[in-house]
Amino acid sequence: MNVQVLPSLLAADFGRLAEEIRRVSDSGADALHLDIMDAHFVPNLSFGPDVVALAKRICPALFRNVHLMLTRPDLYIDRFIDAGADAVQIHVEADCDVWQGLAAIRRRGVRAGLVSRPQTPAAALFPYVPLCDEILFMTVNPGYGGQAFMREVLPKIAALRTYARQRGFGALDIMVDGGINDETAALCAEHGANQFVAGSFLFKQADMAAAVSRMRAVCEARFAPCPPGLDAL
Ligand code: DX5
Ligand code: ZN
Repeated sequence: MNVQVLPSLLAADFGRLAEEIRRVSDSGADALHLDIMDAHFVPNLSFGPDVVALAKRICPALFRNVHLMLTRPDLYIDRFIDAGADAVQIHVEADCDVWQGLAAIRRRGVRAGLVSRPQTPAAALFPYVPLCDEILFMTVNPGYGGQAFMREVLPKIAALRTYARQRGFGALDIMVDGGINDETAALCAEHGANQFVAGSFLFKQADMAAAVSRMRAVCEARFAPCPPGLDAL
């Protein structure tokens, strides 16, 4: 399984955004994670398509993974893809037709992702697996960086990995986002996650490249394609 590390731009110094984007690119990270918030789906505002376009202009080769925390993500899919999103993720709890949203993303030729809040059961995601390239588990309540990792999400990761493997979707990428550091990333890898979003932990490092390599190595070593205890799904 391809293990990937994605720094979240939300934790960057917004006064030096261009330099921070270059820092992510130079770190050898697999992608840049961009958190889009509407102050309605989550109690915070972040930034919009112009920042995605900025990232594309500054570092065209850096993959742009866009996480839409919007009540109506369906109305903004095209704008973010036009701005340069390489993957677009929508929430299963959003106020739109999730099937149509995922299909609209795929029709544009970019990766389609589905996200769940910590409280949403894993089974709510199962029907959508065939339409997804990646599924993201929030491991904090979405809206802010710097929160503590929620361990109760771990069984959901294992449940989805098991479900996907048993249905012939063993290559599904499973991502985690929120409170991720070396230790919590390793726990998620042991439960079947292979993509790791980290904001404050990576941006506070003096040497982001070393931290990205270390997190990737730890997660490669700990990744479990068949998490234990869930064979009877
Ligand atoms: C939270 C965002 C996360 C956030 C993670 O709503 O989706 O991507 O930036 O930040 P940390 O890693 O600081 O928890
Ligand atoms: Zn995110």
